[in-house]
Amino acid sequence: MAGVRSVIPAFAALLAAQTTQTQPAQAQTNASLDAGRRLAATHCGRCHAVDRRDQSPDPRAPRLRNLGANFPFAGLRDALRQHMIVGHPEMPVVSLNPTEIGDLMTYLRSIQGPARSGRSKERDT
Ligand code: HEC
Repeated sequence: MAGVRSVIPAFAALLAAQTTQTQPAQAQTNASLDAGRRLAATHCGRCHAVDRRDQSPDPRAPRLRNLGANFPFAGLRDALRQHMIVGHPEMPVVSLNPTEIGDLMTYLRSIQGPARSGRSKERDT
């Protein structure tokens, strides 16, 4: 009996250790998604649909969830680095820091249609 009792706490400790190891990465992804969603709403939402179901306020602006269909994601990251001047004659210059760009990319990638999910294999730096 004593043997079983000593195994259980050890097993529980192991589980706890594993949980604390995996949690930070997940929490970081969620924080990144939240931040990216906010950035999209703030900087893009005036014209583009930023969620999975909304329509673009400016009908000429593609829904962000459809961008992957005809715009390479690696190119979008570069465009964001260059303050998004590309393809946006009427858009105010958006200046995002590298963390914000990463968050925004994480969010944009998360809302792309399922048929396009293969694109997320692209370089992620
Ligand atoms: C002032 C309105 C406005 C804002 C704000 C805006 N966009 Fe746009 N965007 C447009 C319009 C309009 C187009 C379509 C331009 C065209 O096709 O001539 C466009 C096109 C694009 C394209 C090109 C799509 C393609 O297939 O060529 C990308 C990528 C894009 N926007 C990303 C963004 C992102 C990311 C943000 C936020 C950081 C943003 N836009 C903010 C109006 C806006």
